[in-house]
Amino acid sequence: MAFSAPRGTRDILPKEIGMWQKVEQVFAEVCKKYQFEEIRIPTFESTELFMRGVGDTTDIVQKEMFTFLDKSERSMTLRPEGTAGVVRSFIQNGMQAEAYPVCLYYNLNNFRYERVAKGRYREFHQLGVEALGSAHPSMDVEVIALLYDFFQALGVKSTKLRLNSIGNAASRKAYDQALKAFLKPKLSCLCSDCNKRFEKNPLRILDCKVPTCQEQIKDAPVIMDYLDEECQKHHEAVCQGLRDLQIPFEVDTGIVRGLDYYTKTVFEFVSENVGTQGTICGGGRYDHLVESLDGPATAAVGFALGVERLLMELEAQGLYVLPVAEPDVFLAVLDEKAQRYAQKMAYQLRKHGIVAQTELTGRGLKAQMKYADKKNYKYVMVLGETELQSEKAELKSMKQKDQRQMFDLQDLSHLVNFLKEN
Ligand code: HAM
Repeated sequence: MAFSAPRGTRDILPKEIGMWQKVEQVFAEVCKKYQFEEIRIPTFESTELFMRGVGDTTDIVQKEMFTFLDKSERSMTLRPEGTAGVVRSFIQNGMQAEAYPVCLYYNLNNFRYERVAKGRYREFHQLGVEALGSAHPSMDVEVIALLYDFFQALGVKSTKLRLNSIGNAASRKAYDQALKAFLKPKLSCLCSDCNKRFEKNPLRILDCKVPTCQEQIKDAPVIMDYLDEECQKHHEAVCQGLRDLQIPFEVDTGIVRGLDYYTKTVFEFVSENVGTQGTICGGGRYDHLVESLDGPATAAVGFALGVERLLMELEAQGLYVLPVAEPDVFLAVLDEKAQRYAQKMAYQLRKHGIVAQTELTGRGLKAQMKYADKKNYKYVMVLGETELQSEKAELKSMKQKDQRQMFDLQDLSHLVNFLKEN
């Protein structure tokens, strides 16, 4: 084969698209119930946006971005995630003037140059939401409730919601000190990246994927013990809100997330079915991102879920059920004249909402019938000289071979009504 899709990318083929469309449609419906509106943003943005937004000590920015110079020598990057771009759009389009909270949802492809593995791609798709303009814990609860509702609408069971708080700037400062004191004697055992992270952003050491580093950080202090009163209260209110809605969760003090913008609430939905990392969805609060991208101080919270990983989960739970397409009618033809007539007739039928097709490759009748059977047509109508002359033709059911009925070709309304009802 001359070409194949680049490593870590894949084609989504017609035979699987039904599940993609179902998941996307259910997500859009759930988002609308919660009054979230769709936003679409560019596929690439200035590199600086992600360096400042996602954080220049994160793995994403350090190792995983698809960055290129455009023809005017500007550094551009294919978006590795959606939040930074959505926030850029929020600021650029003056959305702070709109009624708060500004609740947005998206369906985006993203690009990360990662080591390819089960559930880990270089181009992947995210469904996500961002709610801007509320610092209240009820907004965190609302976003998680939306996500939980979505999983329920798809019938997903047994994924676990893990919740943590990583505090605000003040609690982070106290925690960074404690973490540094813990890690200092271990520096020689940590990888060179972690040695760099130690000075700039010690929290990032906690999500280092190098096994020897993982070993060293096993007994590190947990950030939950360093939360100030405000963050503690916020966390408790989120937990209470989830309990009020009977959304099951576990507090997992190990969750710190791999992006720098988070404050207070962070959460993940995990499952054993989606490969080494297990995370289907990640999110949290990011109260300073808008400001750090030169916008007005605006608290925010959101999440993104990986569609490929969600589909793996659906498959593992026996929920990957492709909808069966049953087109209404195939107009088989016996000669050229009938073919032209049938194409016109199919065109008319479609105007009335009927899924109709005719022969488009010049095959003989036997091959046409085989095709109609393979494509699961409900009915077939054979058109030839006799039918065109008498202006009457027989509709045959593909499922019950003895079910036949004559229809007038001059006035298609009876045929249309019959096909709509059956
Ligand atoms: P993230 O944890 O980097 O967060 O990604 C969210 C989800 O995207 C993951 O849980 C996973 O399902 C999927 N994902 C990430 N990388 C890959 C990959 N290489 N292959 C397949 N799936 C992947 C974010 O992106 C944040 N923007 C989420 C957020 C929104 N936080 C607040 N608002």
